[in-house]
Amino acid sequence: MRTVKFGIIGCGLMGREFASAAARWCHLSDIDVKPEIVAVCDTSDKILKWYTDNFQSIKQVTSDYKQLLANADVEAVYIAVPHNLHAELYCAAIKAGKHLLGEKPFGIDKPANDTIMDCIKKHPNVFVRCSSESLFFPAMQKIGKMLENNAFGHILEVNSGFLHSSDLDFTKPINWKRMLKLNGEYGCMGDLGMHACHMPFRAGWLPKNVSAILSKIVKERPDGKGGMAPCETWDNATLFCLTEDTSSKVQFPMTIKTQRIAPGNKNTWYFEVLGTKASARWSSKQINTVEILEYTGGEQAWQVIDMGHEMAYKSITGGIFEAGFSDSILQMWAAFLYEIHHGKPISKFAGCVTPDEAALSHKLFTAALKSEKEKSTVCL
Ligand SMILES: NC(=O)c1ccc[n+]([C@@H]2O[C@H](COP(=O)([O-])OP(=O)(O)OC[C@H]3O[C@@H](n4cnc5c(N)ncnc54)[C@H](O)[C@@H]3O)[C@@H](O)[C@H]2O)c1
Repeated sequence: MRTVKFGIIGCGLMGREFASAAARWCHLSDIDVKPEIVAVCDTSDKILKWYTDNFQSIKQVTSDYKQLLANADVEAVYIAVPHNLHAELYCAAIKAGKHLLGEKPFGIDKPANDTIMDCIKKHPNVFVRCSSESLFFPAMQKIGKMLENNAFGHILEVNSGFLHSSDLDFTKPINWKRMLKLNGEYGCMGDLGMHACHMPFRAGWLPKNVSAILSKIVKERPDGKGGMAPCETWDNATLFCLTEDTSSKVQFPMTIKTQRIAPGNKNTWYFEVLGTKASARWSSKQINTVEILEYTGGEQAWQVIDMGHEMAYKSITGGIFEAGFSDSILQMWAAFLYEIHHGKPISKFAGCVTPDEAALSHKLFTAALKSEKEKSTVCL
């Protein structure tokens, strides 16, 4: 078993998810590489206590990411910080020779992403991936296998999205994800979009153009100090894309929806592909259920299939038991470590977002901003 020693930079919500996944690595039954968290870095000391209380393996605790990157014991880093810091911290990690799983959107905007991409090109020996756990739910894995087997025939339409609803509460105080300078002009697309693009991009479906409808719904929110702060970012985005399947050259409509104000959707991933031979759809609202329609003539009937625990990276959980968010996070981390060790993911649809896929999302979101501004369809 190879051990990869990790540092975490940015120990908030997502930093803890990784640490917790590392703590239950024994849940994976058939993997020959594991992470060990040896260093943590956050500018807020309070947040670090949970780590030092729970992980005896941690030898370095710092508020300065440069110190963590100078630690020769650290082989790889997970960086989960606000978007305005992605370019600076990701490039520093890559230049320090640390393998990197960086959080989406992988740069606050396209120029920041271009900087990260240039840095990756100059350091080909560093393994770099972007985070998105959306592909690792069993239903998405099943749809991925169907795609590998060309089960859908001629693709007619694809709909992919990620929906939140807590911002429907207009009294919810503002946080950095609603601020232009920390979250970026993409707004909800930067925050939620990579998750919705992961499967289509991995399938080789490339948007040729985009017509975007972006909505700013909430103009200001409580600032948490008794006053009000302006809400500057896009709340909801619907992107209509003419999309091409790179292998068959078939073109079809694809809709990518990212919304922070989608009533009733606490945290809903969904994906639907309609084809001439088969169609499939899944929503994390019915996390265990995938619907499939196979057409060979005759009646067109949707089958409802219970997925159970059919994971890309085998685990100790019995096959009949349903999966959840933290399982998808564990699977994403298994994919990252497996690929560091073996040079490729266990299968096409069981790999983390590549830098090229993240760069494509920036091309799409930047074109969507232009489309909104010019009220036109923009070519990519
Ligand atoms: N994959 C997912 O499902 C998912 C979910 C939520 C957020 N994210 C992404 O994760 C990243 C972080 O989001 P979060 O929700 O964990 O945010 P968060 O606010 O909970 O955590 C960010 C942490 O970064 C720390 N930080 C800020 N500046 C720092 C610096 N210079 N050095 C070290 N630490 C610093 C903050 O103190 C904070 O603890 C973002 O890119 C976000 O888009 C991904």
